[in-house]
Amino acid sequence: MRLAFSDEGPGPVVVLLHGFPIGRMMWKDQFSAIGAMYRVIAPDLLGHGDSPAPDGQYSIDGMADDVIELLDTLGLAEPVVVGGLSMGGYVALSIIARYPERVRALMLMDTRATSDTPEAAAKRGELAEAVARAGNPGPAIEVMLPRFFSKSTEEYRPDLVVGMRKMMERNSARGVVGTLHALATRPDRTELLGSIRVPTLVLVGEHDAITPPEDSMAMADAIPGARLEVIPAAGHLAPYENPTVSNGVILRFLEELEP
Ligand code: MLT
Repeated sequence: MRLAFSDEGPGPVVVLLHGFPIGRMMWKDQFSAIGAMYRVIAPDLLGHGDSPAPDGQYSIDGMADDVIELLDTLGLAEPVVVGGLSMGGYVALSIIARYPERVRALMLMDTRATSDTPEAAAKRGELAEAVARAGNPGPAIEVMLPRFFSKSTEEYRPDLVVGMRKMMERNSARGVVGTLHALATRPDRTELLGSIRVPTLVLVGEHDAITPPEDSMAMADAIPGARLEVIPAAGHLAPYENPTVSNGVILRFLEELEP
């Protein structure tokens, strides 16, 4: 699978994986701040942004395979820092579970290790049907967007909400439907957490309503030596909503990795 991607900056590689149903441009503030010192590689995952959106049912493991294929294509065989937000975090966990030798450090942002409950998976199925019927991502946007942001972002940064809607509207019904299947069928990775042996940053917006801080606390408790950072004035999209604090936290974590 040939993914569209951005590749910006010098230095050690940091891979950033976006959430659903967004795209790599959610990392725009990370390209500038982190990309000043690190090589930030951010793909559009399968079904998103400028990447192919074939018909059919996707899987989180398949998305992880695509990311590894991209790194191979770029000649990056050495371990890299892998960070992901929400769905991107599910993909990051799949990478460390299945390609541990490719991961130098992990950043889990506004995400969780658990799988969908049967009720949540059934709702994804209904949403996929609604998106297929509409022929556009609208129904998914109307479900996701109102839950993404903190109250302060909605009040003081409506431009971020508008920008996010535009990013979401760029995705196709096919891509959204395929991805909903991937989300609904993702494996539970809770058991994996205790075996993670790379430095790990767990970052979460204090008002995250989709993957609440308790999920992050549980992950950070289970991963040996993991660091938990709660980002103020942010909901589910902490690095996008509060890039100043998030980038500071990420840069400190990355600096500590260097010899
Ligand atoms: C995301 O932001 O990627 C989604 O909220 C993930 C999910 O719905 O599980």
